[in-house]
Amino acid sequence: MSHQIIEDLTSRYTTKKYDRNRRIPPQDIAIIKEAIRLSASSINSQPWRFILIESEAGKARLDATFKNKYQPNQHHATDASHIILFAHNPIYKKEDYKKVLDINVALGRLKPEVYDDVLNGAFHFAALHSDENGCNASWTKAQTYIALGNALHVVARMGIDATPMEGIDSELIAEEFADELGGYVCDVALAMGYHSQQLDRNFGQPKSRLAMEDVFKVV
Ligand SMILES: Cc1cc2nc3c(=O)[nH]c(=O)nc-3n(C[C@H](O)[C@H](O)[C@H](O)COP(=O)(O)O)c2cc1C
Repeated sequence: MSHQIIEDLTSRYTTKKYDRNRRIPPQDIAIIKEAIRLSASSINSQPWRFILIESEAGKARLDATFKNKYQPNQHHATDASHIILFAHNPIYKKEDYKKVLDINVALGRLKPEVYDDVLNGAFHFAALHSDENGCNASWTKAQTYIALGNALHVVARMGIDATPMEGIDSELIAEEFADELGGYVCDVALAMGYHSQQLDRNFGQPKSRLAMEDVFKVV
């Protein structure tokens, strides 16, 4: 099958070793940020926050969070050009959703007279995913993976290498980046940059996926 989308998704791969001397240009970072911001989410909740790590100081802070576990991913903290922490709001409230609806009113997408009905109606859906303490983290976390998948495709299109990482220490990240996270939880991150021509063992490997008929049932 020949199509640009298929080519992008076939050629992208999980980079295992970065060239620490290469930086993603700022104009590309701006596109990646905007693409992530534009990601879809359930009821347009956008229950996320993205911490972009680009400075040496920021990378040193991330590096320190690997002291207890997931050391195989540690070198990405310092070798990758940029790392994004994908964080979710573990207790997404009506107040959070109001921010979205206020934007809709300002855009003329929502009439003020139906504001409360829409708020209650849509938030009912969020409530279905909440426990008795208002925790809806499994639902909000799922939204961050939509942004992650979007980012993976976008960077592939741009010829930028990437490494999605669940192998991160969420507890230490919560401590180290407490100010930036503001109570949001980071369980997944994305390292980005350019692979090491000499040392990236994953580069050039054939794509390994289950057969089409195993994953698709067409009715
Ligand atoms: C949510 C998620 C978490 C992942 N976590 C890690 C990780 O911590 N370290 C790593 O080297 N690869 C990680 N990977 C990469 C997967 O192993 C990889 O995507 C998979 O083997 C398919 O290979 P490909 O990305 O090269 O196509 C992760 C991928 C995803 C989507």
